[in-house]
Amino acid sequence: MKKYRIALLSGDGIGPEIVAEAQKVLDAVSSEAEFEWLEAPFGAQAYFDTGRSFPQETKQICDEADAILKGPVGLSKEETEKIPVDERPERGAALPLRRRYDTFANYRPVILPPSRAHFSPLKSSIVGDGIDILILRELVGGLYFGAKERGVDDAGNRFVHETLEYDEQQMARIMHVAFGEARKRRGLVHNIHKSNVMLSSVLWNEVLDEVATEYPDVELKHMLVDAATTALCLDPRQFDVMVMENMFGDILSDLGGGLIGSLGLMPSACVGPEKAYYEPSHGSAPDIAGQSIANPYAMIGSMAMMLEISFGLGEEAAAVWSALDAVFDDGYATPDLASGREGMTALDTAAFGDEVVKRLQAGD
Ligand code: NAD
Ligand code: IPM
Ligand code: MN
Repeated sequence: MKKYRIALLSGDGIGPEIVAEAQKVLDAVSSEAEFEWLEAPFGAQAYFDTGRSFPQETKQICDEADAILKGPVGLSKEETEKIPVDERPERGAALPLRRRYDTFANYRPVILPPSRAHFSPLKSSIVGDGIDILILRELVGGLYFGAKERGVDDAGNRFVHETLEYDEQQMARIMHVAFGEARKRRGLVHNIHKSNVMLSSVLWNEVLDEVATEYPDVELKHMLVDAATTALCLDPRQFDVMVMENMFGDILSDLGGGLIGSLGLMPSACVGPEKAYYEPSHGSAPDIAGQSIANPYAMIGSMAMMLEISFGLGEEAAAVWSALDAVFDDGYATPDLASGREGMTALDTAAFGDEVVKRLQAGD
């Protein structure tokens, strides 16, 4: 029997609350395969407990695991400021995790089935037929990983230099993923860029045109990132796969969460050449942490992406997605989606997870 080892990084804020639900749901999945959980400290809590936000012990556990399931990390601005800059969980843990496993391909699906159109703040004339977009965000280059310098000039002015760095191979590999994914979908790639200002986008577009020659069957369209933001609101149905550099992808994927009604609906996969890790697109939501009201959908969905992408367990993943769909179809949701909506029943985080488990077991 195949056994998969999963490093489990619960993270901060709502992290442990939603990770517990993903774990509960996977433990209820019926499969020939077996899953072993390897829990490890990661994030702000890890810093307070061990002095490191990505401790050596956690690195080892992740190295040995077949995949990594990660909750969000981070604290409120005030709490974060109690941690030295380099150990703050985003810079000290999340980015080093991405770099360690070279997880360049960040899949951020933005999906709103027609049955959930009422979750969107957009009119049903715009989203009534649903939304199905795959944002592919380059995850290990650009401004995030470029050289940084902070100083004071001769006149006493504080300054900062933050460098946007890419080479053509880093660009080409995420583009190949985008074209490959488009082939499995509607066959359309939107290239999101800013070549009217950024030299990095000029090179990006040149590389893209070269890569595109290998995919003559895929339609390629180009859109400036600022215009894309409006287009996503006015006509999201036009998009299939959208590919972009790191920072554009960070921002547009959170807009995706807005389009479909909640960041709690945004799972993601961070895929590298040898290993992948899975986390929701959203953060640790310090404003609702500890209240048991966080939406665990994105965390459970990230786990389903792990089953499919890292373990090739497509049937098990499909069972999780249909159980999640069924919970919404029966009118249940956490308060981010249920509050103020007629005909919906608000559930807390664990009760939502229980409903998913019930439907998984009923489908066996
Ligand atoms: P956030 O995504 O944590 O929250 C933004 C808003 O969305 C909040 O109102 C929050 O309550 C709501 N929200 C987010 N997820 C939700 C869920 N599952 N259910 C219900 N509501 C949800 O963004 P923020 O407040 O700007 O950041 C908080 C911290 O998270 C920061 O420290 C940030 O750096 C960190 N962060 C971490 C990750 C990660 O680990 N991958 C991602 C994004 C932000
Ligand atoms: C995300 C987050 C991260 C990012 C932070 C926590 C480093 O916002 O995964 O979207 O900016 O990439
Ligand atoms: Mn983000």
